[in-house]
Amino acid sequence: MSSSLRPLIAGNWKMNGLKRESAEELKSLIHKASEQNSVGCDILICPPATLVASMAELANGSPVSIGGQDCHANEKGAHTGDTSAQMLKDAGADYVLVGHSERRTDHDESNEKVKAKAEAALKAGLIAVVCVGETLQERESGQTLSVISDQVSRSLPAGGTAENLVIAYEPVWAIGTGKTPTVEDVADVHAHIRNDLQALLKDADGVRLLYGGSVKGSNAAELMNVAHVNGALVGGASLKAEDFWPIVETVL
Ligand code: 13P
Repeated sequence: MSSSLRPLIAGNWKMNGLKRESAEELKSLIHKASEQNSVGCDILICPPATLVASMAELANGSPVSIGGQDCHANEKGAHTGDTSAQMLKDAGADYVLVGHSERRTDHDESNEKVKAKAEAALKAGLIAVVCVGETLQERESGQTLSVISDQVSRSLPAGGTAENLVIAYEPVWAIGTGKTPTVEDVADVHAHIRNDLQALLKDADGVRLLYGGSVKGSNAAELMNVAHVNGALVGGASLKAEDFWPIVETVL
């Protein structure tokens, strides 16, 4: 890794996972992590909401943390089908993703909504992983950096610090496609985010910036070596411990 920040390798299982198979994968991941003398990074799995409590119970006391994939901005109330940050915390989660591009697209989540969710996460004592990323059309029209700046400044929670906030840069066109930006493009965006954060936060240099989008064992080392990349947010390759572990190993 290019920086002294403790890396975070996070898996987003999205809408995948049933209890028996998922428990086997998590146990296998915990086993691999527990075999290390020391684990030099934070490891996070974000299962679907139905599995947060059982996975958190399994991971309790292990080097693996559990997170939600989304939360409601309110603590409780008449919001059928939603899950609050407080409920995730109560189920054993330590983190929650907010503003993933699939939420922004499928559920029309604005930056303002993402910010409110991130603030709810901090209030509940969770670490918020705020996701940002440009579409292909935005990249091709040269708007990447301005789109990212806009998302970062408008989605960031009040009260965000290096301890309770992580930012994940996930180009929408790289998610689930097998395509990744060049390391130069990742470096540009991450340096840009770091620079934007200086104006927004006191301890901007301590906030971890993850790269996400088609990360796998074969490209992780190269991506994790880019300046201001402090970890990864992994979708498809996080579902099986045998695929996820080689990504963790690049930062051990
Ligand atoms: P993939 O790793 O499957 O491209 O997904 C990335 C992602 O969206 C993680 O949140």
